[in-house]
Amino acid sequence: MFWRKKEPARINKTAEEWRAELEEGVKQILSRGLSTTPQTLPEIDFELERQRLNGAFAKVEPRFDPKRIDKNVVDSIFAWIWRKDEFNKLNLDYDKGLFLYGPLGLGKSLTMFALRQYMNWVKAHYEQKRDDYRLCAWMKSASELANIYAVDGQPALLSYAAHDVNLVIDEFGREPCPAKYFGTEMNVLQFLLQLRYDHRRSSITHVTTNMKLEDIAPKYGAYVADRCIEMFNFIEYKGQSFRKTL
Ligand SMILES: Nc1ncnc2c1ncn2[C@@H]1O[C@H](COP(=O)(O)OP(=O)(O)OP(=O)(O)O)[C@@H](O)[C@H]1O
Ligand SMILES: [Mg+2]
Repeated sequence: MFWRKKEPARINKTAEEWRAELEEGVKQILSRGLSTTPQTLPEIDFELERQRLNGAFAKVEPRFDPKRIDKNVVDSIFAWIWRKDEFNKLNLDYDKGLFLYGPLGLGKSLTMFALRQYMNWVKAHYEQKRDDYRLCAWMKSASELANIYAVDGQPALLSYAAHDVNLVIDEFGREPCPAKYFGTEMNVLQFLLQLRYDHRRSSITHVTTNMKLEDIAPKYGAYVADRCIEMFNFIEYKGQSFRKTL
């Protein structure tokens, strides 16, 4: 009858017909070269990679002197990237972020800039690291984050607390606190860390700061200080400021 819809393709095939169709499909896929057998991944030359990490430092700071940075720290950060215990002298937890703290001018921010560059490189070049959610990170200073709140309010901060965004917070503790948005005051970093703690299994937070660890609780609350223990590897930077000698 003319109002009848076109008859649908027959779906009550026999088991034999289904099997033949499936086999034909698999044959076609294989003939297109989409092999399902795992490919062998390129070997990693860790000595070369370690030099590449130094290269990333030198790219950010042309006067970079590898002898003037704590080798245990850089080796352990390298281990963190590759999850390689043999370089992990500081016994870092690979699923926690890095919390670099210490006095002014010791290379904490430089480390983070170089680390980001190198991680991007690793992710782009190694198939086996492509799915490592920890590589790649946004970077914002704490003051910038406070300013984002002051200009655009709380919704603008939420993208920095998303569950799939790794974030380096530079100069934590140096932001104006509380920040004000049309008279509404907020401790921006307390708010962000609280949200990021909830996503700690799927996104990494890194920090550079001049704050002493014992100053975190008075400024951001005991509950934030307590959560920091679960979120971060604490790495101390010591020595004389580079700014005096450069
Ligand atoms: N190993 C190094 N060799 C040469 N220059 C370095 C080295 N480490 C850091 N620097 C330089 O020293 C200066 C201070 O470094 P950086 O800004 O990273 O310090 P910081 O610890 O983040 O300081 P602050 O706590 O004040 O933010 C920068 O110009 C940086 O490029
Ligand atoms: Mg810094």
